[in-house]
Amino acid sequence: MTVHFIGAGPGAPDLLTLRGRDLIAASPVCLYAGSLVPEGVLAHCPEGARIVNTAPLSLNEIMAEIAAADAAGLDVARLHSGDLSVWSAMGEQLRRLRAMGIAYDVTPGVPSFAAAAAMLQAELTLPGVVQSVVLTRTSGRASAMPEAESLANFARTGAVLAIHLSVHALDRVIAELLPHYGADCPVAVVWRASWPDERVVRATLGTLDPAIGAGERSALILVGRSIGATEFAESRLYAGDYDRRYRPVGTDPRFPEAT
Ligand SMILES: C[S@@+](CC[C@H](N)C(=O)[O-])C[C@H]1O[C@@H](n2cnc3c(N)ncnc32)[C@H](O)[C@@H]1O
Repeated sequence: MTVHFIGAGPGAPDLLTLRGRDLIAASPVCLYAGSLVPEGVLAHCPEGARIVNTAPLSLNEIMAEIAAADAAGLDVARLHSGDLSVWSAMGEQLRRLRAMGIAYDVTPGVPSFAAAAAMLQAELTLPGVVQSVVLTRTSGRASAMPEAESLANFARTGAVLAIHLSVHALDRVIAELLPHYGADCPVAVVWRASWPDERVVRATLGTLDPAIGAGERSALILVGRSIGATEFAESRLYAGDYDRRYRPVGTDPRFPEAT
C-alpha cells in the first residue's frame, strides 16, 4: 500500500501530469484538499472509489482515513492544489506516515504562480530586468511569517514577488512594497488562474485599488519590473555570435569537440 501525494495543478483539469492522472486512476481511495482541486481531476478516480474532501477534517482525521486504507491494503491518491512543495501541508503528513511505517511517493504539479504567469503570457525572468522570483505570502491567522521574511526584505532585492494567500490584505501589501518598488512598478492580481472564471487586474503599485481584494481569495499577486515589460535585452544564449557547446561559433570555438 502506498500513499501517492499528487500535485493536482492550479485548476484546469488538463494541467494535471500524466503520472498524476494514472496514479489517481489506479488508487481506490482519493483524499482531496477542498474546492481548489477541480472535479475534472476527481473524474479520473476509478469507479466505486472512496472520495473524501479533507477540507473539514483535522490532521488526525486525515491520518485515520489513511490508516484505514492501509489496513485494507488500498492505495491512496492524496491530492493538493498546485504543486506540493509550497503551502500544501504535505510535510506534516509525510512525518506522520514515516512514524506509521506507511510508504508514500510524491508527484509534482503545476504551481499557481506558473499558471498565473501563463495567463499573463509573461516571462518573469527577463534579461537585464529581473532574474529571481520569490514565492511568498503574508502572515495569516494560521501561519506567522518568520521575521526575516517580510515583504520589505524581499522587496529590497528587486525580485518579482509572487505573493500567495494575501489578496485580502492588498492595502498592507501595497504599503509595504511602495517604498521599494515605486508607484510605477507593475502589478497583476490573478484570480483562479486556469479555471473557467479566471480573472486578472493589471495596474501599478500606485494605481492598484486595494478594495479589489475583497471577495474571492484564490488569487495571486505578482509584483515586479518584468511584468508587462517590453524594454529588455535579448538572451545571450540565442545570440548569433554566442559561442557555446551546442552551437560552436567562429574559427576558434570554446568547445571544439562538439563540432
Ligand atoms: C494553500 S495555497 C496552495 C498553493 C499551491 N500549492 C501552489 O502550488 O500554488 C493557496 C493559494 O495559492 C494561490 N492559488 C492557488 N491556486 C490558484 C489559482 N488557480 N490562481 C491564482 N492563485 C492561486 C492563492 O494565493 C491561494 O490563496
